[in-house]
Amino acid sequence: MLDYLPKDFTAVVTGASGGIGHAVIEALLASSKVGSVIAVSRRAIDRSDTRVTALAADVTTEEGLEKLKETLGERRLDFLFNAVGVLHDDTHDIQPEKRLEQFDADAFAHVMHVNAATPVRLLATFHNAVKGSHPCIVASLSARVGSIGDNGFGGWYSYRASKAAHNMLMKTASIELGRLNKNAIVLSLHPGTTDTALSKPFQARVPENKLFTPAFVAESLLSVIDQRTPEDTGSFWDWAGERIEW
Ligand SMILES: NC(=O)c1ccc[n+]([C@@H]2O[C@H](COP(=O)([O-])OP(=O)(O)OC[C@H]3O[C@@H](n4cnc5c(N)ncnc54)[C@H](OP(=O)(O)O)[C@@H]3O)[C@@H](O)[C@H]2O)c1
Repeated sequence: MLDYLPKDFTAVVTGASGGIGHAVIEALLASSKVGSVIAVSRRAIDRSDTRVTALAADVTTEEGLEKLKETLGERRLDFLFNAVGVLHDDTHDIQPEKRLEQFDADAFAHVMHVNAATPVRLLATFHNAVKGSHPCIVASLSARVGSIGDNGFGGWYSYRASKAAHNMLMKTASIELGRLNKNAIVLSLHPGTTDTALSKPFQARVPENKLFTPAFVAESLLSVIDQRTPEDTGSFWDWAGERIEW
């Protein structure tokens, strides 16, 4: 489990109450190598393990980021797994667009904020905790549909654009963080279609063997991360360990 990191490493998982975020926390806790996990979600998760700090914070806000920074305190950041993301949201009247006339600038701004600005604000928040020479891994969930080169179907304008922006921001941050810490690894990851609330309305046409459980995806992504080195920083991978074109 994450051989690159030291024993008793500190992990931060954002989107802790989401399907994939929660499964990543369970996968981390299954290993005795993990020293502590800060599990961040808008509503604190209920998990009884002395290694878990369940933090109620909305990392899409500056107050939430400040709370998270205080919780990490003076500790180094060893591992950040960001599983925050939005595709549809009834409370904001957001659905992925099928046609141009459905594109709404306010919905677009919200999706961009959650999927692209939030991950980079997270990295900025942890600037000092990344700095140094310790092994440090940042993994943030993107989506294959954010690949411009791979866009053969169209549609989902805001989600696609937000994940493309996510990838550019992670790539750019990887260059800056590489100067702060040459042992930092920053990765954008595609989990595959996973059975969570996010994909629920769009699962009908997904073949059964292509709809993954969150537990399978968590194991797969941790194993993909495990195979990366600092030379891979600023790259984009899928759950099977294949590189994805930008
Ligand atoms: N499921 C898939 O098929 C699939 C495919 C490709 C990529 N992905 C990506 O994987 C990531 C995780 O998705 P998931 O499938 O686990 O979905 P999920 O179960 O819906 O979880 C999404 C997480 O995002 C957070 N979130 C959503 N809207 C937010 C908002 N307005 N403010 C703050 N937090 C918000 C939620 O945080 P709280 O914990 O605070 O509620 C939740 O934990 C996303 O980035 C998604 O784009 C998923």
